[in-house]
Amino acid sequence: MQAGAVAGLTNIKNPIDAAIAVMEHSPHVFLIGKGAEEFAVTHGMDTVPQSYFFNEYRYQEHLEGLSEDKTKFGTVGAVAIDRNGNIAAGTSTGRMNNKRFGRVGDVPVIGAGTYAENGIGGLSATGHGEYFIRNVATYDIAAQVKYGNETLDEAGYNTLMKKLKSQGGDGGVIGLDSQGGVVIYFNTVAMPRGYINSK
Ligand code: GLY
Repeated sequence: MQAGAVAGLTNIKNPIDAAIAVMEHSPHVFLIGKGAEEFAVTHGMDTVPQSYFFNEYRYQEHLEGLSEDKTKFGTVGAVAIDRNGNIAAGTSTGRMNNKRFGRVGDVPVIGAGTYAENGIGGLSATGHGEYFIRNVATYDIAAQVKYGNETLDEAGYNTLMKKLKSQGGDGGVIGLDSQGGVVIYFNTVAMPRGYINSK
């Protein structure tokens, strides 16, 4: 039930570190733009020029998307649980391609693209962010466990494979329940994923 998020950054090398700093060193949850950058620099984050983020392959995808109206996503997430049952989830995105300038997706919106609550579970999502925001998707999954006595696995299926799929909300989610059980659902063709445990 602690949270930190940033959006609208242009030159912080590892925005996920800035999100953690917001959680650990500010009374706030969500900082954006210049204020977020200034906060990150004040807390020792490395900065890089915009060219650091340029990637020819992704640029070509962007150009293709302009003509073909193809939507692609570029999100990475992780969920972890320790031996005391403390659950953490983190999500970082570069994009949905061909979005409008100023658009913010689901990733930094707590409860949409990222959520963790001890005793319930932790979740990180990838996909078409607007759908994950409208459905408050990761919290929607947690809430079914909290108030509806569903397992995290059942709840993940309900939200990803029924609710979002019926709306055309492409995407997926990774999660851990309160006992460390792995939950993975995606309604897209593929979602690279993996897990590791003590064995
Ligand atoms: N899920 C990533 C985004 O929509 O920005």
